[in-house]
Amino acid sequence: MSTTLIHGGTVISAVGRREADVLIDGEKIVAILAPGQATSMGIVADRTVDATGKYVVPGGVDVHTHMELPFGGTEASDTFETGTRAAAWGGVTTIVDFAVQNTGFSVQDQLAVWHEKAAGNCAIDYGFHQIIGGVDDESLKAMTYLVDNEGITSFKLFMAYPGVLYSDDGQILRAMQNASESGAMIMMHAENGIAIDVLVAQSLARGDTDPKFHSLTRPAELESEATHRAIQLSKVAGNVPLYIVHMSASGALEEVAAAQHAGLNVFAETCPQYLYLTLEDHLAQPGFEGAKWVCSTPLRTKHEHHQADLWKGLRMNELAVVSTDHCPFCFKDQKELGLGNFSKIPNGIGGVEHRMELIYQGVVLGEISLERWVETCCTTPARMFGLEHKGVIEPGADADILVWDPNRTTKIGINDKHHMNMDHSAYEGFEIDGKVDTVISRGTVVIENDTYVGTKGHGKFVKRGLSTYLH
Ligand code: URP
Ligand code: ZN
Ligand code: ZN
Repeated sequence: MSTTLIHGGTVISAVGRREADVLIDGEKIVAILAPGQATSMGIVADRTVDATGKYVVPGGVDVHTHMELPFGGTEASDTFETGTRAAAWGGVTTIVDFAVQNTGFSVQDQLAVWHEKAAGNCAIDYGFHQIIGGVDDESLKAMTYLVDNEGITSFKLFMAYPGVLYSDDGQILRAMQNASESGAMIMMHAENGIAIDVLVAQSLARGDTDPKFHSLTRPAELESEATHRAIQLSKVAGNVPLYIVHMSASGALEEVAAAQHAGLNVFAETCPQYLYLTLEDHLAQPGFEGAKWVCSTPLRTKHEHHQADLWKGLRMNELAVVSTDHCPFCFKDQKELGLGNFSKIPNGIGGVEHRMELIYQGVVLGEISLERWVETCCTTPARMFGLEHKGVIEPGADADILVWDPNRTTKIGINDKHHMNMDHSAYEGFEIDGKVDTVISRGTVVIENDTYVGTKGHGKFVKRGLSTYLH
């Protein structure tokens, strides 16, 4: 097996930082050494990575991506091949994507379809959550089977998208009771989809069809109401672990904070789009341009204090994780499906490449610490979703490492840094005071010298255990 020594850098963990060298043997980290210790011990590695003046952090863990997701009559434009390669460009070494089951389909059959899409195509490691779009006796049985046999220990339910992926409260309760038995995590898309559909129909009837009405018909109250309801249902189901996905609004965050205060196993993630982008500056751009930023939950108004509250939530650990909800669609032919009718614009923003960069910029801006960057983007997502060997730099962990250069800069944009399979960037023109330097996935260098040197198929499916993050 081949050895690698990353030397001269500052190793950042969720709890601190120190000057140290990292020794890798094969696919694993085998030692953290004091500077110079490798030489005094006579260790000569097969390969060295000079991290002088740089940060050495665990590879990013993005627990919310949608490669090749069928949505609104089209399909997310990144395949597992292109999307995981872009992730690697962004310092991410593990994704957890979503296999989808729809009403009337077998969970196991649908999971097999997702395995087929991903197997042999990924640049970095990957796992799956399972979306349950049709809660019934069969799918409930399958949930238990997946936890016990398939390394799939989290299930996403939807309070939004009636007629597509929506579950009613009774179905949600049954799925939560099932998860409570098996120890699985319920992930919730918390928006009141029934009320939203009324507002959407009224908006279209008035002739309010531009992209900005996507947000105006999904008011923050309908996110906090659904979040509240999901929390109450999780309590009734025996304090089942509940994880609210893509949180965008202050009110919803307050519901989560109150639940945590009450000692419930309730957690939440936000995404870079909610920390940086707004209704006015992005979604409400003239003409159809705003379609680039149609996602659900939607971008919120800058005239309230959602972004400041979300950053504070990250500092306070009310928000434990930053994921991307990477769900890219090209503007041409895909977003354009909603010309003249915002409700037909496929929902999603691509960002898997930029999460480590954008959240690092939060460090530069003084919103969070370097340690919190690592915690929310690497360590906690791994613990939250049972990725035992990921998200930390310690002996025995997978050698998934990002060497980050704080002395260089990154310009994001379609003609700058952009490797996702989309014809625009949601973060066009953003400048980051730092740069991905070297990325190592299970001991193999995949990014170095501003070049992708990985291979399709290097990434392996990871069976996950239960969450180790519960109260
Ligand atoms: O707009 C989004 N979030 N698209 C992906 C599907 C989902 O609800 O996560
Ligand atoms: Zn969702
Ligand atoms: Zn999503």
